[in-house]
Amino acid sequence: MRSIPAPSPPGPALGLYVHWPYCRRICPYCDFNVVRHRGRETEARALVAAILRDIAAHRARTGPRRLVSIFLGGGTPSLMRPEDVAEIIAAARGAWSPAADLEVSLEANPTDAEAEGFAALAGAGVNRLSLGVQSLSDEALARLGRNHDAATARRAVARAQTAFARVSLDLIHSWPGQDEWAWRSDLEAALALGPEHISAYELTFEPGTAFTRARDRGRMVAPDEDHRARLFALTGEVLSGHGFQAYEISNFARSPAARARHNLIYWRGEDYVGVGPGAHGRLTLDGVRIATEAPRAIDAYVKAAGDEGPAGAWLALTAQEAALERLAMGLRLAEGVPLADLAALAVDPMRIAELGAFVDVQEGRLIVRPSARAVTDRLALELCPV
Ligand SMILES: C[S@@+](CC[C@H](N)C(=O)[O-])C[C@H]1O[C@@H](n2cnc3c(N)ncnc32)[C@H](O)[C@@H]1O
Ligand code: SF4
Repeated sequence: MRSIPAPSPPGPALGLYVHWPYCRRICPYCDFNVVRHRGRETEARALVAAILRDIAAHRARTGPRRLVSIFLGGGTPSLMRPEDVAEIIAAARGAWSPAADLEVSLEANPTDAEAEGFAALAGAGVNRLSLGVQSLSDEALARLGRNHDAATARRAVARAQTAFARVSLDLIHSWPGQDEWAWRSDLEAALALGPEHISAYELTFEPGTAFTRARDRGRMVAPDEDHRARLFALTGEVLSGHGFQAYEISNFARSPAARARHNLIYWRGEDYVGVGPGAHGRLTLDGVRIATEAPRAIDAYVKAAGDEGPAGAWLALTAQEAALERLAMGLRLAEGVPLADLAALAVDPMRIAELGAFVDVQEGRLIVRPSARAVTDRLALELCPV
């Protein structure tokens, strides 16, 4: 007898982002919401409990939904205890209806100590690892101030590929002094490791970081825009030459199945719950787009994630604000964004025509031409001056 499939819960599908703010060491270019983990074990236990309370509080607001992805990001979630990871995944699966192909990603740093824990994290339910390799050159890793060398990163990739069905590598380009040869070598070295997915980010100089202070004091020279554009173009050239599709500005997949399901939620303007210090979320409730933001400080988050409701602020976006966000995120994708989703912006068709060298409309979707990908952020502003 054939079993009757369970009915799909009402409401749009959902992803869950969990922010784990601890790192072994703070990298000189990073401005994510992070702290050093040493001596914070008790606080980390309290944070896990707060995250569990926050998941339950969000469930009370979202109602039943289909859960398509969980992303444990950071910070360095590979420093989490596997039993805590398992408990968070179980709580999410219990709160919502998990899809049969639920993607459970975790961000990891490639140190030996962390790689030793990969099998246990897979046992806890993680099925996709996003590994922060950044470079496979010792010189680049030293310049970036990373706490691993290239040989360690290679060992971590091998262990990840044994433990997880899906592995993605993060790389960084446009660090001071990097030439085209160095970037090409890095890309080819990463490709030789056989990942299904590569995220290739341009190094950004964020306010308040050690790199930005060094640049502003003249101790570090950031690459100019032309050089960065050449490295960006080289990324697409090398990766597409090896069969990877640039499905997003900085993200490349060997096949459609290898795309990051979770990140697609952000770029496609779908719903996601954000828990953990400083986590953002976006939810559609009764047709209104809600932006959520949890307190950034760990102690404030732990206190706020109580029994009263989800931690942090919930703000209803206007239809224009929601559509503007949809435009900015959707243009990042090769598939673009349906014009129907931008109705509230009333984008002038004349403006689209004027920008015809950079954008195109195909089957009702606004897309950025591949040759104009590097200036996507500017195009969103050009299409919709605020
Ligand atoms: C927040 S980190 C978490 C992953 C992990 N902690 C690590 O560092 O490998 C996620 C990714 O963001 C990227 N990233 C962080 N700061 C960046 C910056 N200033 N510019 C470009 N990419 C950055 C790195 O590639 C990193 O792998
Ligand atoms: S780049 Fe990764 S390891 Fe470095 S401080 Fe940021 S989150 Fe932590």
